[in-house]
Amino acid sequence: MTLKEAIDVRHSRRSYTPKRLSGQVIHTLTNIIDEANREHLHIQLITEGEKAFSSLLKTYGLFSGVHTYLAMVGPKDDPQAQQLLGYYGELLILTASQHGLSSCWVGATFDQGNTRADIAPGEQLYCLITLGYAKDHTSLGEKLALSMKGRPHTAEQIMEYRGTGPAPQWFMDGIRAVLKAPSARNRLPVHFTLKHGIVTAACIPNGGYEYIDLGIALLHFEIGADYIFYPLRTRHSNK
Ligand SMILES: Cc1cc2nc3c(=O)[nH]c(=O)nc-3n(C[C@H](O)[C@H](O)[C@H](O)COP(=O)(O)O)c2cc1C
Repeated sequence: MTLKEAIDVRHSRRSYTPKRLSGQVIHTLTNIIDEANREHLHIQLITEGEKAFSSLLKTYGLFSGVHTYLAMVGPKDDPQAQQLLGYYGELLILTASQHGLSSCWVGATFDQGNTRADIAPGEQLYCLITLGYAKDHTSLGEKLALSMKGRPHTAEQIMEYRGTGPAPQWFMDGIRAVLKAPSARNRLPVHFTLKHGIVTAACIPNGGYEYIDLGIALLHFEIGADYIFYPLRTRHSNK
């Protein structure tokens, strides 16, 4: 499965079987984590982390069976770090999807005091990403989350093309991939503009998650459009 195909199959899952991640999957994810952490991030793969999701009160009953998650830690109050956490977190999610895993970004509905993340002074835990093999059936908690998802977004809401005629195919391919990106409360608070062949992207406030949402959207755009926002970063050739 390519990363483009992974974008099509990914959607948040919140109910997991006890099956653990294989050593090979952990190795693949750890390589990406090491690459991300060279950019002053402190992403950690936590196994046996049930406690962060065992409080019904803190999870609102949305999650069940969570044992493995990524702790998305980085420099405190740092929008650039948040954007990178979004970008690399989503790359980890799509790579996990290629290996048959399901996932969910979690900014709020977990027990902050019961995570096993290592948070150094000057750092902040921004989010978790649950990872695991999803149950076949949709749980009650997942049905609740789906009912809160709202309407799908449209291309017009998130793009502007400043040129003559229709927007080029590659730009529209990028926008279509962004429309499939996860975002906090499914708000998709991002906007892409194409002018003189250059794409710019911006975000509007979304409960403090907007820079993470933007980083996620940038990765989706790069994969959908074969466009590079970060020329110096290692490219992920498996489009
Ligand atoms: C930064 C961020 C924070 C999120 N926080 C939560 C959360 O606290 N609880 C939850 O159940 N889902 C959370 N989500 C998942 C979104 O609700 C979900 O991605 C969105 O509804 C779109 O659904 P999809 O991922 O199935 O496409 C979060 C997503 C993002 C990107």
